[in-house]
Amino acid sequence: MSLKEQLLGRVAEAPAHSGNKVTVVGVGQVGMACAFSILTQNVASEVALVDVVADKLKGEMLDLQHGSVFMRNARVLASTDYAVSANSRLCIVTAGARQKDGESRLDLVQRNTDIFKGIIPQLVKHSPDCILLIVSNPVDVMTYVAWKLSGFPKHRVIGSGTNLDSSRFRVLMSQRLNVAPSSVHGWIIGEHGDSSVPVWSGVNVAGVRLRELNPSLGAAEDKENWAEVHKQVVQSAYEVIRLKGYTSWAIGLSVATLTEAVLRNGGQVHAVSTVVQGYHGIDKEVFLSLPCVLSESGVSHIVKQPLTDEETAQLKRSADIMHEVQTRLKM
Ligand code: NAI
Ligand code: 2OP
Repeated sequence: MSLKEQLLGRVAEAPAHSGNKVTVVGVGQVGMACAFSILTQNVASEVALVDVVADKLKGEMLDLQHGSVFMRNARVLASTDYAVSANSRLCIVTAGARQKDGESRLDLVQRNTDIFKGIIPQLVKHSPDCILLIVSNPVDVMTYVAWKLSGFPKHRVIGSGTNLDSSRFRVLMSQRLNVAPSSVHGWIIGEHGDSSVPVWSGVNVAGVRLRELNPSLGAAEDKENWAEVHKQVVQSAYEVIRLKGYTSWAIGLSVATLTEAVLRNGGQVHAVSTVVQGYHGIDKEVFLSLPCVLSESGVSHIVKQPLTDEETAQLKRSADIMHEVQTRLKM
C-alpha cells in the first residue's frame, strides 16, 4: 500500500472539473494580470493558461502554483496544447500583438486576426459551451472576428470593451470632486479606443446629475473644461504605454470583475462590447460597448440608455469606423 493509500480511504471519485474553470490565452502582461486578479480575488478556483512560448508559460504556471496556499488552494494548469482548456466556462483571449509607442489599437488588427485563426477554433473545440471574453486589441473588431470564427451565438462572445474606459472616467472625475471613484457614476460607450463616447448626460453622484448643475458639462463652452476628462481617458493608454511599455493592472482588474459577473450569474451591468446593430439607430453588424447585463449565458440584455443627439451621433461614428476596419479585414 502506498503512503497515499495508507493515509486516505476512498469514499467517492472527486469530480474531474471545478465547474468554474477559466482559461486565459496569452500569458503576457495582460494575460497574467487577468489571471492574477481572478485568482487573488477568488473569482475562479481553476485557471488554465495557454500560450505559444512554452518556457514562459511553464514559468508563470509554477510561480502561480507556488502561491496556491494563499489563494484558497486554486488550481493552476498550463500547456501549449488547448486540451488543457477543456470544459472551461469562460475563455479569455489576451494573446497577440500590443501597441508600440505611438501606434493605435487599430494598427494591430490584421496581425491579431491572423493569430485568432489559430486560437478561437481550438477554444471552441475543447469548450463548445463556453463564453468567450476577448481582450486583445483592437478589442471591438477582435470580438467581431472571434464571433465569426467561433460560430457562437452573439450573447456568448463579449469584448472587455469600455468597462476599463468607464473606470478611468470615474477615477478622473473622482479626483476632481474628491469623492470615491465608486461613488461617481459615469459611462463611456462605443469603441474601446480613440472614438469612445462619454455619456455626459448621465454622469451623476448620488443621483444628482452633474449636467443639471452645469448644463455645459462636457461641452466646448464649459468654463470648467470637464471635456478634458474624456480627453485624458482617451490618452490614458498612450500615456501608460509611453511610461511603462504596456497597460496591465487596470485591464486585469476589469476582466476579473467581468469574469465574476459571468460565473456568479449576478446580473451586474457593465459596459462591454456586444453586437449593437438595432440599437441607437446603428444598422451595421459591429461590436461596440453599451451597458449590458451579464449572466452565465453572457450578455443577457442591453440597457437602453437614453442618449442625447450628440452622443448618438458620436456612437454612430464609432460604428462607422469599426465597420470600415472590418471591410478591410482578411479573415
Ligand atoms: P504581451 O506581448 O505581453 O503578451 C502577448 C502574449 O500573447 C505573449 O505571451 C505571446 O507569446 C502570446 N501569443 C502570441 N501569439 C499567440 C498565439 N498564437 N497563441 C497563444 N499565445 C500567443 O502583450 P500584452 O501587453 O499582454 O497585450 C496583449 C493584448 O492585449 C494586446 O493586443 C493589447 O493591445 C491588448 N490589451 C487590451 C486591453 C483592453 O482594454 N482590451 C488593455 C491592454 C492591452
Ligand atoms: C488600454 O486601454 C491599451 O487598450 C489598452 O489599456
